[in-house]
Amino acid sequence: MSRIAYVNGCYVPHNQAAVHIEDRGYQFADGVYEVCEIADGYIIDMTRHLGRLNRSLSELQMAWPVDKKAFVRIVKEVVIRNRVRNGLVYIQVSRGVAKRDHVFPSASVKSALVITARRSDPAQADAKAQTGVGVITVPENRWDRVDIKTVGLLPNVLAKQKAKEQGAAEAWFVDEDGMVKEGGSTNAWIVTQDGTLVTRPADHGILRGITRTTAIDAAEKLGLKVEERHFSVDEAKNAREAFITAATTILIPVVSIDGDSVANGHAGSITEQLRFQFRIEAEKTSVYR
Ligand code: PDD
Repeated sequence: MSRIAYVNGCYVPHNQAAVHIEDRGYQFADGVYEVCEIADGYIIDMTRHLGRLNRSLSELQMAWPVDKKAFVRIVKEVVIRNRVRNGLVYIQVSRGVAKRDHVFPSASVKSALVITARRSDPAQADAKAQTGVGVITVPENRWDRVDIKTVGLLPNVLAKQKAKEQGAAEAWFVDEDGMVKEGGSTNAWIVTQDGTLVTRPADHGILRGITRTTAIDAAEKLGLKVEERHFSVDEAKNAREAFITAATTILIPVVSIDGDSVANGHAGSITEQLRFQFRIEAEKTSVYR
């Protein structure tokens, strides 16, 4: 079966899908995006992802490419046409196509929309949840508006490549006080010795992950205490458990940081419970394809 992409009003074969060379997303990274997980045909946390997309667009004074009802129809259509029951849908909106000039183009230039979907094997994610992953730490070198989910991801790309070269799955950005911010494409969490979940406050220093938000709800359902506060690399290394969250992975245990084991170096039970409860909690904000 051939994959289908949506590009500015047309459903096209994935291998022929293309954007204009003067698309501002391509030239200036002047665009925003969302990635949603699809599980058993449900687009997970779809309503929350749309809310964050709305915020990203308005922070950058960009217009919706189509009205929101049509937008949801197109997202579902891409998922259906690609017959994705388990996988991901990728949504990108750029400020559109215009002669290269840094300042915004005229209001008549419409924002550009690309949507793709692909399948993934849930068994692979489950296996990763059993073994856990390693992370490395890197100094924060991004701008201070990482709360906006823009396609300008070069520092994230370089950090994650460095992690890969060191046999790790993620790189945690660390601020100048030695405090963990977030990963290149995930939010960072620890579980303290007394079982409290800790994650950095979602102010302007990190992206307010949708999986993070739903995981907080899930933790509250489990009666777990959640503290949104800064934590250091040292505190993380000495934590009872650590994990990362993102739509692409949901919850994955972190078993080592810069080569040092977290606790006994195995996936922890609180992370596992929360991963399970996440599924129940996410039903409330998910939409069938
Ligand atoms: N990344 N922090 C960063 C920097 C991210 O890029 C992401 C998501 C997250 C987690 O957000 P959410 O829970 O909404 O997925 C945190 C996506 C998955 C990506 O770039 O592929």
